[in-house]
Amino acid sequence: MPKILFLMFASLVLCTSQAMADALKISVIGAGKVGGTLGTLWVKAGHSVMFSSRHPEELTDLVKSAGPNARAGSVSDAAAWGDVIVLSVPYGAMPVLSEQLKGKLDGKVVFSTSNPFSGRDGDVGRKALDEGVALADQQYLPGVHLVRAFNAISYTSMKDQAGKGKAIPVFADDSQARELGARLVRDSGFVPVIFPLARAKDGLPNGPLSGVWNEADLKRKQTN
Ligand SMILES: NC(=O)c1ccc[n+]([C@@H]2O[C@H](COP(=O)([O-])OP(=O)(O)OC[C@H]3O[C@@H](n4cnc5c(N)ncnc54)[C@H](OP(=O)(O)O)[C@@H]3O)[C@@H](O)[C@H]2O)c1
Repeated sequence: MPKILFLMFASLVLCTSQAMADALKISVIGAGKVGGTLGTLWVKAGHSVMFSSRHPEELTDLVKSAGPNARAGSVSDAAAWGDVIVLSVPYGAMPVLSEQLKGKLDGKVVFSTSNPFSGRDGDVGRKALDEGVALADQQYLPGVHLVRAFNAISYTSMKDQAGKGKAIPVFADDSQARELGARLVRDSGFVPVIFPLARAKDGLPNGPLSGVWNEADLKRKQTN
């Protein structure tokens, strides 16, 4: 084989194996409109995704449409399997999930799109809104590295606006959560702009950081 062809082949093998080594195992707990949409974008980006819900047997069509690197499992399967756990459930499910996941996610990054609403989520939603959503998340899931994102962009916009250079806020404090959170946002086709968890309430629907942004405009909000 001529040397140039050999070098091209070798670098192709290197790039492919690097991309495979970098691929994440992403567990999505709550595979509805948001979890299903984001999980599908991550499969298309080369990651492996396990979709889960209380009824994983109903996720066959989603798994099929997402692609060969998608699978379905129970909530416990998902908690054990993923390098990172995406939580995309109505906030009213948090007390039950807190019990179910106790001690199973310690040290993992949990990426939550889940929002509290007083109407839909009753007392659980009201309490989280009163004390602050990030604090509530951490009380339900102690010991995880929390990141919140995609809280105030509709699932239809997640599909339609992906890959168009639009920025969204990513709320996280520690470096593991910031890095993995930013990567998941980037790999779904959006530009991550990092904010502290203390500002997570601003990223709820109708908050001052809701919606999709031009990156420079959103970066200006980091300081005010
Ligand atoms: N819709 C949007 O455009 C949008 C945008 C941004 C953020 N959000 C927020 O993201 C979260 C998800 O919204 P969504 O619209 O995707 O809701 P959804 O379509 O109703 O999906 C919710 C998912 O959660 C699962 N689920 C419910 N309780 C569960 C439990 N105890 N354990 C495990 N899985 C459970 C449901 O499946 P089973 O019932 O089969 O368990 C379903 O797969 C919400 O907090 C919402 O406010 C929504």
